[in-house]
Amino acid sequence: MCGIVGYIGNNLSKKILLNGLTNLEYRGYDSAGISILSNGNIHTLKTKGRVKDLIDLSNLDKVDGYCGIAHTRWATHGEPSDINSHPHNNQNNTFSVVHNGIIENYSDLKNFLVSKNYKFISQTDTEVIPNLIDYYYKEGNDFLHSVYKACKHLKGSYAICVISSIFPDKIIVARKSSPLVLGKGINENFIGSDIPALLEYTKSFYFINDNEFAEVLKNNIIFYDENLSKIEKKCKEINIDFSQINKNGYDDYMLKEIYEQPKSIFRTLNNLNFENLNITKEYLKSLKKIYIIACGTAMHAGLVSKTLIENLCKINVEVDLASEFRYRNPIIDSNTLAIFISQSGETADTIAALELAKVSNAQTIAVTNVPESSITRIADKVLYTSAGPEIAVASTKAYTSQISLMSYFSLYLAKLLNSINDDLLKELETDLNNIPNKIKELFDNLDSQIKDIAKKIYLEKDIYYIGRGLDYYVALEGALKLKEISYIHAEAYASGELKHGTIALIENNTTVISIITNPLLVEKSISNIQEVISRGAKTIIITNQSLNKNEFNHIIKIPEINSYLSPILSIIPLQLLAYHIAKLKKLDVDKPRNLAKSVTVE
Ligand code: F6R
Repeated sequence: MCGIVGYIGNNLSKKILLNGLTNLEYRGYDSAGISILSNGNIHTLKTKGRVKDLIDLSNLDKVDGYCGIAHTRWATHGEPSDINSHPHNNQNNTFSVVHNGIIENYSDLKNFLVSKNYKFISQTDTEVIPNLIDYYYKEGNDFLHSVYKACKHLKGSYAICVISSIFPDKIIVARKSSPLVLGKGINENFIGSDIPALLEYTKSFYFINDNEFAEVLKNNIIFYDENLSKIEKKCKEINIDFSQINKNGYDDYMLKEIYEQPKSIFRTLNNLNFENLNITKEYLKSLKKIYIIACGTAMHAGLVSKTLIENLCKINVEVDLASEFRYRNPIIDSNTLAIFISQSGETADTIAALELAKVSNAQTIAVTNVPESSITRIADKVLYTSAGPEIAVASTKAYTSQISLMSYFSLYLAKLLNSINDDLLKELETDLNNIPNKIKELFDNLDSQIKDIAKKIYLEKDIYYIGRGLDYYVALEGALKLKEISYIHAEAYASGELKHGTIALIENNTTVISIITNPLLVEKSISNIQEVISRGAKTIIITNQSLNKNEFNHIIKIPEINSYLSPILSIIPLQLLAYHIAKLKKLDVDKPRNLAKSVTVE
């Protein structure tokens, strides 16, 4: 949510800031802005809309300088508008701030500042920050202490970058519960919400923790702890190939990421090492419960993982939405293993749930795709999906990598516990390693089939997804993909549950997509499909079973695989279907409305 960039150095900053913003646009894209120091003044340009709208502003040409900050916004307080866009400046235009997060007590702070004759022009929470900094500066503090004192009064979450026309040789940054990284260059330094935004310029990064501050100068970065005592930080080299964040010839990141799945799963499976977790049979036996906690698509991966761990390891698993878990007094103690799945590693609710699990003495494992993300610094242990940077807002390759990782993990636990027979273990291991090839097989002719179906249904208002067991969890994920990028109302139901209410919505020509991959549940699933066909539904079936073609409108055949692993294959036609429907509707697939890739606010 919101992307921030900062630059100070020997080069002109505008191009660097705009490039950084373009790389960060997936974090928010309802407005964009830039503040650059030049000729002793702060020049701020901002606009409602995308980064390209900022680039198109006619007066942008006239401004450049060697120090600046920039922002792409996902609105929280105040509608997307020119005025509400960041950066926000104090009324004298001597301090300029970009902010990611929410200032929960902004109203109290605003009242205080208004009582001191400060004037506000926006509806945002952020505008209090530059004015509060100004207030402390006028009390006689230097730049760093003014920012520090202002931050001490902020409640909520923030990653901020501040520049000042009075102190043109530095940028001050601070962070609390929102992501921020610092990139080191030669005679230049960079600030960004995440690593990929800056990879074009540097591979050397510093990471600051909550409540820490940094003074970023051209040739140096000085770090401070929460009491403003100087601290040392080690610079880390990050080995992400910059080409991984290009579209590589695809029209959209989402399409590229869908087709990357054989590779991303292969990498994930081959880079795993569970030995570092130090899990023993005795420990597993002592567990009362495993919790899997996540949001959105990652939670859907958690549901699939639950079935695998419960069935293969006979351990009780509860899956919860992070936003619910954190406020419902969950029963959790030292006999609980809590696993947190998060592609970005920055999701505010997931991190808060992790913190809660830690104070309740649970052992915690984070499953994430982003090295050095916030979650990796909080969890006891970390497992990485090696999907590579996922840029499209709708998650695809991260989801299948999460399930692949969790499937492999379930097999590891089952081996420790000796809870499944050797034949099944071998079959699952072979099938899992074969998944990348099976996906390649699935891709043969898939695109044209899916395009044909998409053409027939892209104007629909409602689409239903049904399945039983693991297929139901895939239905949930398929429906979410469609909703988020095509804006078609989609609902997922457990096939057997439909008749308890929702079937009332099925009428002539309603599209029902059904996933059928478990041989033991085929007949039951077909009966449920017959129930909707009798009420006029058009049916699309995703299956690895041999079904009678004449009974359904479309059948998409996926390769055969042990049914525990089928979600990794069966979701792929649904990802492509959502993609092609959104394209036919001429929507921005990678940046759907109202969404952002990293949800760093509650
Ligand atoms: C949907 C999607 C979201 C995320 C959710 C959690 O396509 O991407 O539902 O899965 O916001 O994000 P992470 O995994 O980064 O914690």
